[in-house]
Amino acid sequence: MTIAPIAKTILGPIDEIPFGEGRTYAVGPDMIAVFRLRDGSLRAVSAVCPHKGGPLADGQIDNKVVVCPLHLYAWDLSTGCSQSGQPPISVYPVRVDDGHIILGD
Ligand code: FES
Repeated sequence: MTIAPIAKTILGPIDEIPFGEGRTYAVGPDMIAVFRLRDGSLRAVSAVCPHKGGPLADGQIDNKVVVCPLHLYAWDLSTGCSQSGQPPISVYPVRVDDGHIILGD
């Protein structure tokens, strides 16, 4: 598992992300995709697909994986591991506190 360290950052209200969708946030030099799963839990991963730079926040998700919209390769949302032989993506700690998305520890 690749959990990347990142400074604590308030990204915005949780209501910005509908259930079952993702949004991209610029955090310093990084682009980070935050997904709100249908069970209400959050996952945060690097937003740029390591294959050819596709927008992972626009990909389809279930409770376990994100599928890149460009070439349909999949990554595990909890571990960042590829399910199709591609490089892994970074995974970041993320949670909800008082209605806001908190990235980092
Ligand atoms: S750019 Fe994401 S799978 Fe190709």
